[in-house]
Amino acid sequence: MSGIPETRGRFIVIEGAEGVGKTTQVRRLAAFLEGAGLPLVMAREPGGTAVGEGIRQLLLHGSEGPVARETELLLILAARASVVREVVEPALAAGKWVLSDRFDLSSFAYQGYGRGIGVDLVARLNEYATGGLAADLYLVLDLAVEEGMARQAREARSPDRFEAEDSTFRRAVREGYLELARSVDRAVLVSADGSPGEVEERIRSEMFARFPETFGEGGV
Ligand code: TYD
Repeated sequence: MSGIPETRGRFIVIEGAEGVGKTTQVRRLAAFLEGAGLPLVMAREPGGTAVGEGIRQLLLHGSEGPVARETELLLILAARASVVREVVEPALAAGKWVLSDRFDLSSFAYQGYGRGIGVDLVARLNEYATGGLAADLYLVLDLAVEEGMARQAREARSPDRFEAEDSTFRRAVREGYLELARSVDRAVLVSADGSPGEVEERIRSEMFARFPETFGEGGV
């Protein structure tokens, strides 16, 4: 035997706009998957590799001057190309599960819709960056823009370049995500309304529905 696992791992992505509680849910889902005994690798975008974390710093906080939308998109895709090849693909090939805080739907929503680049161009460039890799499940957390802004305002830290955007940009990003949840294979919309526990339950039901072979009919 070569030691190569027979089954490829699963790739789960949590997506959503600012203030939807994505980070909390990523943590809770990770704890659940590990509790279920699954070998898990975490990723985040932009970031997740040495070069990716450098790009993240540059994108979120590093630039004093304006950043052209073309520059922004290409930097994000450069980071994605790195995390796909260095982290995600090797883990999946080794039979591990990968949970990523954001992946390509963020580029469609933020750059395609929010910055107005359009989904066709983002799709073409993204295809090159990912080598065609898509998630097995995209959990798209959705919340009213006003509620997301209110949640964000309760956090005491200073906003990054995206968090500082106005409500017009935020509305375009949310509309983008709603459209993506309808049109993208393996994307599901999850309401981020309510308590973290309620949202966690919704996410878990989606996991059970999508991966019955792993979690059984009603879950583990
Ligand atoms: P992050 O810390 O992940 O923000 P949040 O806590 O809101 O998830 O920061 C990533 C920021 O980068 C986020 O504001 C969205 C933006 N982004 C894009 O604009 N396009 C992309 O493709 C990705 C991956 C992120």
